[in-house]
Amino acid sequence: MTDAKFPSTTPEGAPAVSDRNSLTIGNNGPIVLHDHHLVESLQHFNRMNVPERRPHAKGSGAFGTFEVTHDVSQYTKASVFQPGSKVDMLARFSTVAGELGSPDTWRDVRGFSLKFYTQEGNLDIVGNNTPIFFVRDPMKFPHFIRSQKRLPDSGLRDGDMQWDFWTQNPESAHQVTYLMGDRGLPASWRHMHGFGSHTYMWINEAGEKFWVKYHFRTDQGEQNLTNEEAEKIAGADADYHRRDLFEAIARGEFPSWTLHVQVIPYEDAKTYRFNPFDLTKTVSQKDYPLIEVGKMTLNRNPQNHFAEIEQAAFAPSNQVPGTGFSPDKMLLGRVFAYSDAARYRIGTNFAQLPVNRPIVPVNSYSQDGHMRFDHTGDAPIYVPNTLGRPYSDETGPVEDSWENDGELVRAAYDLHSEDDDFGQPGTLYREVFTDEQRERFLETLTGQLEGLKRDIVRENFVAYWTNVDADLGAKLAAKK
Ligand code: HEM
Repeated sequence: MTDAKFPSTTPEGAPAVSDRNSLTIGNNGPIVLHDHHLVESLQHFNRMNVPERRPHAKGSGAFGTFEVTHDVSQYTKASVFQPGSKVDMLARFSTVAGELGSPDTWRDVRGFSLKFYTQEGNLDIVGNNTPIFFVRDPMKFPHFIRSQKRLPDSGLRDGDMQWDFWTQNPESAHQVTYLMGDRGLPASWRHMHGFGSHTYMWINEAGEKFWVKYHFRTDQGEQNLTNEEAEKIAGADADYHRRDLFEAIARGEFPSWTLHVQVIPYEDAKTYRFNPFDLTKTVSQKDYPLIEVGKMTLNRNPQNHFAEIEQAAFAPSNQVPGTGFSPDKMLLGRVFAYSDAARYRIGTNFAQLPVNRPIVPVNSYSQDGHMRFDHTGDAPIYVPNTLGRPYSDETGPVEDSWENDGELVRAAYDLHSEDDDFGQPGTLYREVFTDEQRERFLETLTGQLEGLKRDIVRENFVAYWTNVDADLGAKLAAKK
């Protein structure tokens, strides 16, 4: 970090002559072009912004540690999850649809991004505060995000557009039930759970494979806001959640989450009653109970928000030996998307930045690009080479593989015995929500319905919720 007590200099280290007065011909005369300190200050200012994340623009985060408390070595060989392991980490929380300056307390899903700096490279778990998602095919993702953002003509957000998308994509019903329920308005980032959402793979030392789902349970207890509270805060303090996390850590109140996993034996996935790779479905904890793994604690605020949070790049592609992907099509789409977004948003060599770089040595054959300062000198830049620079050369089956067969097709997943779009949201509404939660849910949906302009969207809205629960649909129909 720069010593800010040192006398002011130009970016090249020569003394800055004045940071207050530009160089002019006489007190009232024109500015001269060779005042390069002025010229460079204005030029740098023009380049201060980088593109905001799209989506998940508004957020913040903090550093901390993750410590293993229970032995899960029978399921994974990843060093980060071995008994006794304690690693540094970074967390970033966010809203999905709002822009960089938008209020933290708008109803939305919240991002829950984690980066673990492990002895085997960075492991990122880039999840949300809900265990599921709106769609199950990555082809739909850009359409989904556009529908939640702004109209092309007025630049306004629009309920008709949001609900038109959701009701035309009935697989969204489970996630929308969460979103319109209490979890759509967390009291703070400290008071929400986090989920990896997808089913990932774990591989143990013997090469056995398991499917896992990550659950980070808040140790502060889940707390949410009411519609009225959230709306009032949004008007008064757009940075309410950002402020809450920063100030809590500054006070020494370090929030923590306990990591549990659901472990699904590899073979079970084929016949489990729900397709465990369908991101719109949860896997029942009665079938696969939570297994405790460890605790993450956030204990250090960023010193510089831009350098350490805005420039942080999380990516589901960041896996380590002992963890891996799954046939979840959304996950496979995301594996491509994030480091590509980081190259666009931050720059080709974003991985060199202190917040993103791993704690272990990097020996990558990638070369050059904007702002390269980490390099391999005159080492050979190609493989194979006869000059002694090591290169990897695994062939044959890979350890984190799964079986595939069949022709290339464009199709939905095969349905498992209990797969449908409305079953799980119906259960969430009837069996998980309390009476009070159902009341608030109806109030929220009524508010949403009142904001819809087009008849077809209003009709589809009522049909969508009737499919989730007939009684709920009838109550909404009465308000139409
Ligand atoms: C095919 C589906 C998806 C695609 C293509 C996608 C793509 C993206 C992109 C491009 C960003 C911006 C990244 C950046 O600029 O650094 C982003 C951010 C994010 N996405 Fe996704 N996303 C998808 C689905 C999901 C799902 C299912 C989840 C959660 C389970 C999720 C959670 C997040 C989070 C938490 C962030 C913010 C990352 C941060 O804190 O920097 N996304 N997504």
